[in-house]
Amino acid sequence: MDSKQAVSSPSPDAGTAKTEGPKAPHREVVFSGMQPSGGFHIGNYLGAVRDWVTLQDQHRCFYCVVDLHAITQPYDPLAMRARVMDMAVELLACGIDPNRATLFVQSQVPEHAELAWVLSTLAPYGELSRMTQFKEKGERAEYINCGLFTYPVLMAADILLYKATRVPVGEDQIQHLELTREIVRRFNGRFGEPAVFSEPLPMHRSPLRIMGLDGKQKMSKSLGNYVAISDEPDVIRKKISGAFTDELRLRKKDPGHPESCYVCGLEPFFMSADKVAEFHEGCRSAKIGCIDSKRALAEAIISHLQPIQERKRELLAKPGFVEEILRDGAAQARKVAAQTMVEVRDRLGFLPLPG
Ligand code: TRP
Repeated sequence: MDSKQAVSSPSPDAGTAKTEGPKAPHREVVFSGMQPSGGFHIGNYLGAVRDWVTLQDQHRCFYCVVDLHAITQPYDPLAMRARVMDMAVELLACGIDPNRATLFVQSQVPEHAELAWVLSTLAPYGELSRMTQFKEKGERAEYINCGLFTYPVLMAADILLYKATRVPVGEDQIQHLELTREIVRRFNGRFGEPAVFSEPLPMHRSPLRIMGLDGKQKMSKSLGNYVAISDEPDVIRKKISGAFTDELRLRKKDPGHPESCYVCGLEPFFMSADKVAEFHEGCRSAKIGCIDSKRALAEAIISHLQPIQERKRELLAKPGFVEEILRDGAAQARKVAAQTMVEVRDRLGFLPLPG
């Protein structure tokens, strides 16, 4: 597919996070994590968060803000708490419901680090050193810390503490999930019978890679080519007015190409099918210009985000409310995680925890 489009499909066989078949409650245990980058952008929203929201009605879901992963890269400790809280607030505002899913912060469940140590003794050095993300991040880093190297082992611990069977991940994390599966095989081979863990399967997110407003690179905060969930209407109007459109359409009277136009590609996510058809037809026949399309898209994004922003304001207006949700989430998660650690300690031949 053309990189000019708003959306590209990284692999034709990628499924979607939506499950088929009859709805049975809690068919799978789902775990997913997101790094606390502060608030997120519409790329994260369309590519991941929407799926998380859908999944919570179908499965037992654990959603984790992974601050232990975040410290593998240089960061400002004074800003960390706000990054974590912003992410949690926006996840809730987008529809993650603490009554239907467990939302928690990784560092509030100490078993993650504990199991990660155990699993690191089962993770092959050679394979860890071949992880694409490690190699890429390592190239950019001033020095390479061991946490960056064992990052995927911590991911394995995240998933296995809850014995998750399905993991919604983006394309870039599939390799890490493969390593988790390898670790499970090694754990069961050495300490199994009956097996403690089963191999988790990926659940591809909607196969979307939302491109940035420049139409050239993936939408990302660090590239500055994004619309944030919390952007004010005027900011959204301004950003969309500068978005990439269609290289082949120089003047309004030139016919447009909705299939390869960035703005047209975003429209279906925010506008009704009828409206999209009208705009694409108008674009093709040169009746509707790019400026009009952009205006309509900006207004559609603004009204889509309006209820999310409203919920965010409500959440922030209640002091201590989100902290309490996270405390409850951590308590729920910890119950499951501690039980898994009882089994793990036993299998390893350790003494039980005193008390
Ligand atoms: N590494 C993942 C990412 O950057 C986040 C993550 C951490 C995760 N632990 C996880 C995802 C466990 C799925 C399962 O996107």
